[in-house]
Amino acid sequence: MTLARRDFLRTMMAGAGWGVLGSCASLQSCRETIANRPVRRNLTSLAPDDPIILAYKSAVTQMKALPSTDRRSWARQAQIHNDFCPHNNWLFLPWHRAYLFYFERICRKLSGMDTFALPYWNWSQEAHLPAPFWGGSSNPLFNGTRVVTASSTAASANVGAMTVNSILDESNFLLFGSGAIPATGSQRAGSTTGRLEGTPHNYIHRFVGGDMGGYLSPLDPIFWLHHNNIERLWVQWQFDRDHDNTEDPAWLNREFTEFCDEDGAPVTTSVAWGLLYPVLSYRFDDVGPGSPASRNAGLTRKAAEEKDSQKAKSGAAIRADVLRRFAAPQPATVPLGQSSSLRLAVDAGALRGVGASGAPRALLSLRVPMGQRNDVSVRVFLNKPDATAQTSTDDPHFAGAIAFFEHTGPGHDHRGDLEFILDATDAVQRLGLEGGPLDLTVVLVPFPDRQPAARSLQLSATELRLSRDSIVRRP
Ligand code: C2O
Repeated sequence: MTLARRDFLRTMMAGAGWGVLGSCASLQSCRETIANRPVRRNLTSLAPDDPIILAYKSAVTQMKALPSTDRRSWARQAQIHNDFCPHNNWLFLPWHRAYLFYFERICRKLSGMDTFALPYWNWSQEAHLPAPFWGGSSNPLFNGTRVVTASSTAASANVGAMTVNSILDESNFLLFGSGAIPATGSQRAGSTTGRLEGTPHNYIHRFVGGDMGGYLSPLDPIFWLHHNNIERLWVQWQFDRDHDNTEDPAWLNREFTEFCDEDGAPVTTSVAWGLLYPVLSYRFDDVGPGSPASRNAGLTRKAAEEKDSQKAKSGAAIRADVLRRFAAPQPATVPLGQSSSLRLAVDAGALRGVGASGAPRALLSLRVPMGQRNDVSVRVFLNKPDATAQTSTDDPHFAGAIAFFEHTGPGHDHRGDLEFILDATDAVQRLGLEGGPLDLTVVLVPFPDRQPAARSLQLSATELRLSRDSIVRRP
């Protein structure tokens, strides 16, 4: 089921998409419902007793009190994540979008606040775990398993404004939002971990730690506000930066059957239906459709809505074609606390022109076996053999950062590799590199205010790729 080229409101009213809107009696009242849809706000802008925070506390308290036979209960909601969440593939963004969509509706119903929308934690702006989530067990938003402290500061290398801005400039959906998997088979099949997932997303999970560090992370009430910021960045990427999702039917037609609605009844949705949520069901206070920053701000309301709904449904045929590979000769073990460089035999002249318009870009692929003690983040520098965990990420040799979020606990498959993709194009250009042997310095960085259990990290394969994007929008 794709939604292309049909009047989306009539399609919605005709059937299965009804749940996106809730109920409205006529086309006209639907239009009003959409125009006045709930606003997802920046948590940092809310007073501690803001009705949104009070409603969230009330909903969390009620969900924790529901029997575990109720799918809306706090434990069952987290179990959905543990059992079904896709990571390291292109379902990462749409699955978590749908998960939040139904969770938000549960909160709205239980709190009795009709205009409730989930707030978001913008960690680029507020690099500490926000105050309303501290206190003690009398605060329903507190979680006692966290490792983070109130003064721990998340690393700007992973979550800072410059890093996020560079990720928002990533025009290739497969690199922005993680790589392709086949239309059928497990939704948890591994592909490549894209920049939004591998850099800020994974980092915040491990930065908070405790429940947040593993697949039962939705047990921590901050989970939902963290993922709402990931959702916000996807909306900003698509609508404000004007990038394209893939139009591959293997992506659009994926169905999810593990969620439940506000009454606890099972629902079926799909990636394609989720494309409509940000134009029909909620909006953000600062980015995307209906926000002051929208590229459509100058248009009439009707024209802006029409443009946004077209944009929501549109996509492109997207590829990243690898032209050349320069691989490290063998697997490597990177020790904690020492700089460690891998030598890549890049041909002389091979990097000339990288990043210029029409020229290839320089991507780094790092393969890391699953199931290690990956409680460190990783920074990569080009030709900076003396780089350490203290080296500034403003250093021109800095090429990117990643962190690890994977299955932990019994019943999970720990075999195989995770593959992370970083973009080294800017660093290659800044340093004026044209080719010849290249040192990749990989540095393990502990999370703030704690000792990592990891003593080293294995890299099973590492390579620099010259890659060319192909992004073809339908006319
Ligand atoms: Cu499926 Cu950030 O978690």
